[in-house]
Amino acid sequence: MLFILVGILLLTLIYFYCIKPLTYWRENGVPQANLMAALFHNYFVLFKRKELTTFVNETYQKFPGNRYHGMYQFNKQLLVVKDTNLIKQMVIKDFEHFNEHRDFVPAEVDPLMGKNLFSLKGNEWRIMRSTLSPAFTSSKMKILFKLMAEYSQNFVEYFLNKNEDLIEIEMKDISSRFCNDVIASSAFGTEVDSFKHPDNEFFRYGQIFTDLRKFSTMIRLFFTMMCPTISKVFKIKFIPDGVAKFFTKLIEDTIKLREEKGIVRPDMIHLLMEARKGNQKNEENVTDTGFATVEEHLEGLANHNLTNEEIIAQALIFFFAGFDSVSTLMCFLAYELCVDQDIQNRLREEIEETSENCNNKLTYEALVGMKYMDMVVTEALRKWPTQVGFERICIKPYTIEPSLPHEKPVRLTVGQSIFIPTYGIHHDPNNFPNPDVFDPERFSDENKTNFDAYAFQPFGLGPRNCIGSRFALMETKVMFFYLLKHFKIVPVKRTEIPIRHVKNMFSILPPDGFWMGLERIHK
Ligand code: HEM
Ligand SMILES: *[C@@H]1O[C@H](CO)[C@@H](O)[C@H](O)[C@H]1NC(C)=O
Ligand SMILES: *[C@@H]1O[C@H](CO)[C@@H](O)[C@H](O)[C@H]1NC(C)=O
Ligand SMILES: *[C@@H]1O[C@H](CO)[C@@H](O)[C@H](O)[C@H]1NC(C)=O
Ligand SMILES: *[C@@H]1O[C@H](CO)[C@@H](O)[C@H](O)[C@H]1NC(C)=O
Repeated sequence: MLFILVGILLLTLIYFYCIKPLTYWRENGVPQANLMAALFHNYFVLFKRKELTTFVNETYQKFPGNRYHGMYQFNKQLLVVKDTNLIKQMVIKDFEHFNEHRDFVPAEVDPLMGKNLFSLKGNEWRIMRSTLSPAFTSSKMKILFKLMAEYSQNFVEYFLNKNEDLIEIEMKDISSRFCNDVIASSAFGTEVDSFKHPDNEFFRYGQIFTDLRKFSTMIRLFFTMMCPTISKVFKIKFIPDGVAKFFTKLIEDTIKLREEKGIVRPDMIHLLMEARKGNQKNEENVTDTGFATVEEHLEGLANHNLTNEEIIAQALIFFFAGFDSVSTLMCFLAYELCVDQDIQNRLREEIEETSENCNNKLTYEALVGMKYMDMVVTEALRKWPTQVGFERICIKPYTIEPSLPHEKPVRLTVGQSIFIPTYGIHHDPNNFPNPDVFDPERFSDENKTNFDAYAFQPFGLGPRNCIGSRFALMETKVMFFYLLKHFKIVPVKRTEIPIRHVKNMFSILPPDGFWMGLERIHK
């Protein structure tokens, strides 16, 4: 008897928590997959049955002729928005309804994660964003350019010193080491060389929470993202305590040393320390770092007195938002240049020409003035948006008014999400003809105004877009400038053409890595 009662209770709970929510969209007049498909699709992604790119592509292609459709992440309701006009309306014009990212890691569980810009909410976010944005402008990137150029040269020298004609590399490892050193220097004010000292502490600690191919990282990410309640109860932190301590101490010591000794070093800590003194200067007129940069939507300088903890949390952003994304972009770019030697050669010609024009001493202006370089990097972001989509939480009730004959008004409630399937939009032949072809000409001066501006969104859209787009573009361009100047990227036996993607929900990397060869150019 008791057994039956418990059974009924369990079934009822399962019905209300797992099954009932999966009919929500249909009941509200929004197209959605049938119940079984809705139930199983979560498990497909979770149990590695599908590549993330294919998944987002298919999601985008479902229900053609509709501007949106409903989807579920377990029992969470997501509205997939596909129509670029509607996207623009929701995340730019009506952004105050959708101006938050998902509660990645609740601040109570992990303050360093919870306090960073990606996770902050409401007014706290607004103040932080406008305090930080002056540190990410083109004129500030010009200051960081010198650091990045130094690291790029150092990186190329390391390979030159090997004195081999063909060096086989795994690009993700190489680009991660490079990005690591750039972050150490530009965001943490400390010098490391992860090529000469592959096992250095900074690199090891950074990898603990950035290597998305590691099972332990994925598990932590999964729990903190999908089940914040469980991670709160069991205190599962995304940044393990030991790692947090290491980076905290590093920054605290640096700030103290600089304050005591009056040291000025042109890096991010310096810019953040200036921000807290309210010393942010207004902009001089500096050329932007590339076509793909996104604009700032908030106006005016805020003078928020950043605490040390806040500075640390922002520096960690570089790891969390700017490490995997940039190093992965570098991999796909290297891959495209590897399989298309014509494009690579044309880019190298531009590099040679630029180099000559500035007497072998690359300047910021010369770098961002390189047109073909910009086209190639932009097309890499189009074909391989490392963030395959972006998500916003509905924080104020919202109604989507019907505009097609079969539509009814859709009311979104607080806590539901909208998902923008960037990968699918970038691969829709109506937006970009022959989407699987890597064709930098799409972004030539003549062509780049010919497509829907909102269909190109590697850095997101609206006030909550990527604050680091300039940083990312500059880092990538400088690195490839020096790399291609001295090496040809060529296929080797282990190069996989075409790319296979790993079948998991957090990464678009190939399962066996990005193998390619660096062939020395003898001059
Ligand atoms: C190729 C490299 C990168 C790509 C593709 C990328 C992409 C994105 C995307 C798609 C978003 C979400 C935008 C939205 O919701 O509309 C985002 C947000 C963000 N990104 Fe990036 N990103 C890159 C590099 C960086 C770098 C280098 C930083 C350095 C700090 C950075 C910092 C951030 C931050 C802080 C946010 C959250 C902004 C906010 O909530 O106000 N990203 N990024
Ligand atoms: C995504 O869809 C486009 C257009 O149908 C297609 O060309 C492309 O191969 C698809 N990509 C993936 C990864 O499924
Ligand atoms: C900011 O706070 C620090 C101490 O945390 C203090 O020394 C400094 O004077 C404050 N600056 C401003 C502009 O309020
Ligand atoms: C910045 O420079 C560009 C060209 O160098 C010029 O067209 C533009 O008007 C300048 N803007 C300001 C605000 O001075
Ligand atoms: C524009 O793009 C098309 C195909 O993507 C290319 O054939 C054409 O040459 C480009 N036009 C210019 C002027 O670059």
